[in-house]
Amino acid sequence: MTIGIAGDGQLGRMMITAAKELGFDVVVLGTTENSPAGQYARQVMGDFRAEAPVLGLGDHADVITFEIEDAHAGALIALREKGIEVHPSPETLHNIKDKFRQKQLLAGAGIPVAAYRSVESSDDLISAAQEYGYPLVLKARLGSYDGRGNAAIKRADDIEPALDKLAGRGWYVEQHVPFVRELAVVAARDRKGNVATYPVVETRHVRHICDTVIAPAQVDGITARKANDLAVKVLDTLQGVGVFGIEMFETPDGQVLINEVAPRVHNSGHWTIEGAVTSQFEQHIRAVTGLPLGSTDLVKPAAVMINILGDRNGPAEPTGLHEALAIPGVSVHIYGKADTKVDRKMGHITAIGDTVDEALANAKRARQAITI
Ligand SMILES: Nc1ncnc2c1ncn2[C@@H]1O[C@H](COP(=O)(O)OP(=O)(O)OP(=O)(O)O)[C@@H](O)[C@H]1O
Ligand SMILES: [Mg+2]
Repeated sequence: MTIGIAGDGQLGRMMITAAKELGFDVVVLGTTENSPAGQYARQVMGDFRAEAPVLGLGDHADVITFEIEDAHAGALIALREKGIEVHPSPETLHNIKDKFRQKQLLAGAGIPVAAYRSVESSDDLISAAQEYGYPLVLKARLGSYDGRGNAAIKRADDIEPALDKLAGRGWYVEQHVPFVRELAVVAARDRKGNVATYPVVETRHVRHICDTVIAPAQVDGITARKANDLAVKVLDTLQGVGVFGIEMFETPDGQVLINEVAPRVHNSGHWTIEGAVTSQFEQHIRAVTGLPLGSTDLVKPAAVMINILGDRNGPAEPTGLHEALAIPGVSVHIYGKADTKVDRKMGHITAIGDTVDEALANAKRARQAITI
């Protein structure tokens, strides 16, 4: 069986590793020469955002999936109508890729989310400020990742620059949530409808970019259960087979709100490669190929993942592997990107250990050792 992946980045690369372990052939679609995924599998050169290349991927694969929300949903629907398996459901992709439509869908299903409203002009932001107060978070509806579709509005003077920053992608605005922690649950559904969730994790962001993930989140049992139950409710609301990443806010009064959902493997689940019995990547491949889901248990009491973000612009030159890998329980993943850029995801570190404190200290030491 050949699996086609729309997208050629690191998520595809890690899916390929899992797929090949199970004996599947993989072909990826993307425009990057020598891409992170293309180093590991055959690559069809073409833009996954455009209709024709995605349709063309159907000539090479029996099952199609995607590693990025920007994949062309209409073409994926057409492929499924031709009889090719496409997972997760392209309708779900269509509903999620527009973050405003996604919010409406979740809120409409009774899932708690931050107060939000559509934005057409600065007047809508002035009304939002009157209703919610400052700060506000303006978001682009389309094409956002790693916080690049967000702009904080702390006072009226920030409104015009924020609209300019995100122009051309549609806008909506959210109330700023004064969260005590950000949480995430990676959940999977197989073709029979069985759902499995990984333990709830804490995600820590720097400049709106995921930086550190702590598994399991150090929250009380009630909050952990709330987060897990909300993740299951999100999956009940969205159709589709495969892995979903569900981002949440824990509020000071003990509520859990959904921030956003990704219909794909997720940065908050990278720790599962070494930290769980079944990695999220294997789980996704199992789900989309019709295999049963695997155990989501941790293999050690704690796992911590730290992203390796670029800290300069230029050709990537990883250093410090020797020092990082000498630390107990530490694994390093470098994504094979030719060029490093400030805040670009270039790799990640996972440390597993007997306590969160130990794993966190080891992951931080390893992160300090590495430059790229
Ligand atoms: N309403 C909000 N209140 C407070 N903080 C927020 C809000 N919305 C977003 N943030 C902060 O910005 C981060 C990124 O926001 P969001 O998840 O919407 O963007 P993204 O570009 O899709 O990010 P990513 O690709 O990292 O998931 C959040 O994880 C959180 O730290
Ligand atoms: Mg996010």
